[in-house]
Amino acid sequence: MSKLTILVLDDEKRITDELKEYLEHRKFKVYTAQKPSSAFELMKSKRIDILLLDIRLPEISGLEVLKKIKNLFPKIEVIMITGHGNMEIVIKAMRLGAIDFLNKPFHHLDVKIAIERTSKFVELQNELTVSNNKNSLISQELEQLLDKKLIGESDAIKEVLKITMRATEFDDVNVLITGESGTGKEIIARLIHYASVRKKFGFYPVNCSAVPDTLMESEFFGHKKGSFTGAFKDKKGLFELTHQGTLFLDEISDMPFALQAKLLRVIEDKKIKKIGDDKEIEIDVRIVAATNKDIKMLIKKNEFRLDLYHRMNTIEINILPLRERTDDIKPLILHFVEEFSKKIKKIVPKIDKKVFEILKDYSFPGNIRELKNLVERAMIISDNNALTIDDFPITFKKKRTDVITKIRNLNLIDNEKILVREALFETKNNRTHAAKLLGLSRFALIRRMQKYEIEVD
Ligand SMILES: Nc1ncnc2c1ncn2[C@@H]1O[C@H](COP(=O)(O)OP(=O)(O)OP(=O)(O)O)[C@@H](O)[C@H]1O
Ligand SMILES: [Mg+2]
Repeated sequence: MSKLTILVLDDEKRITDELKEYLEHRKFKVYTAQKPSSAFELMKSKRIDILLLDIRLPEISGLEVLKKIKNLFPKIEVIMITGHGNMEIVIKAMRLGAIDFLNKPFHHLDVKIAIERTSKFVELQNELTVSNNKNSLISQELEQLLDKKLIGESDAIKEVLKITMRATEFDDVNVLITGESGTGKEIIARLIHYASVRKKFGFYPVNCSAVPDTLMESEFFGHKKGSFTGAFKDKKGLFELTHQGTLFLDEISDMPFALQAKLLRVIEDKKIKKIGDDKEIEIDVRIVAATNKDIKMLIKKNEFRLDLYHRMNTIEINILPLRERTDDIKPLILHFVEEFSKKIKKIVPKIDKKVFEILKDYSFPGNIRELKNLVERAMIISDNNALTIDDFPITFKKKRTDVITKIRNLNLIDNEKILVREALFETKNNRTHAAKLLGLSRFALIRRMQKYEIEVD
């Protein structure tokens, strides 16, 4: 990322000088101007990222300057500089698109905060083209950057990523993501949005189980003022707000049956009507839905519409539970340990090999979310720079799936490892007994344990 460039426009030279010195010290490139005409000259010839703009100026007012900038150079973010008690003007400026404001006389700390916040936004914007709906997008974009990494090495997660990438290419096709709680459905939904052409528009997540039934229809379709008691003004619904973007319907199986029919119609007609309105509005929305329930079972029980299911699952992405893709456990632990070390400013601890071994046998009912919490807890508990299995307070329910379900292919070598582990588990790590169970000599067992790096007490 190259240095960000800031232009300071204030009629008082004392102020532009002070800000220039302060900001240059913080490694920004800084230009100054005392009147709007020279500021516009600079904006025409230089790339400016952020403008610090005084309200009271010669030639034209700060608000006029702001309006002009939003027309001519919409990419420049503007921070207003105002005298105290000018709240009305501040509000006007924010409506016109200013991103923040500073009260005069200002403290360096205020300048620092405003500039940091704005530069973070500008950097994000440079990275991902953000649409008009800034306020709600800032947090989503940030969240997305922090949480977008999809970690995993298993064949299963690679397959998920492959289908996800395909879904980003076909941006009109609806996607259904299934998988137990905490398997990463939301991460996938966000990836689909932010890697598609729709990223310029909004990503709206709605948890269908959190919206009360009575409000659902108005949430989705919007309403006209006065169409029912409590409808004090016109309201846009989610479909309209999401126009050209992605609507993420989380927990779609909790959508009331009646509304499912309406959703189906929207998908087919690509048109909606607000409650209390005759006018049809065309909408272009991609729907990504997710559920952790067994949707086929719900269809059988007549709780989910088969026709809607067929409309939703043009691309279906099923994410396996973590216990069925144990190859992902180690990379995920390493990732969360590193991420959390950064967060709590600790050095990255050494991790005992047994942690990986033993967690591979754990059932993870809460999947990756649970693993993430376990890692964070372990790092808080451990008082030295090492993590051992004792730092993982799992009430150990071993994944007692029987051996047969662990066998995924007929490869003798792959399965030998599973059998050796199983025999050791059965015999509580007694090598002599385990060897007997396996029909091997004790020495042959130990050789295999070394080969597969299986360690026991
Ligand atoms: N492959 C992965 N790599 C890194 N982090 C992951 C991965 N999968 C999930 N996570 C993390 O695990 C947590 C849970 O993921 P997410 O919220 O996407 O799950 P979900 O399937 O939507 O769960 P639920 O059904 O409970 O809503 C999040 O913090 C997410 O960042
Ligand atoms: Mg979720």
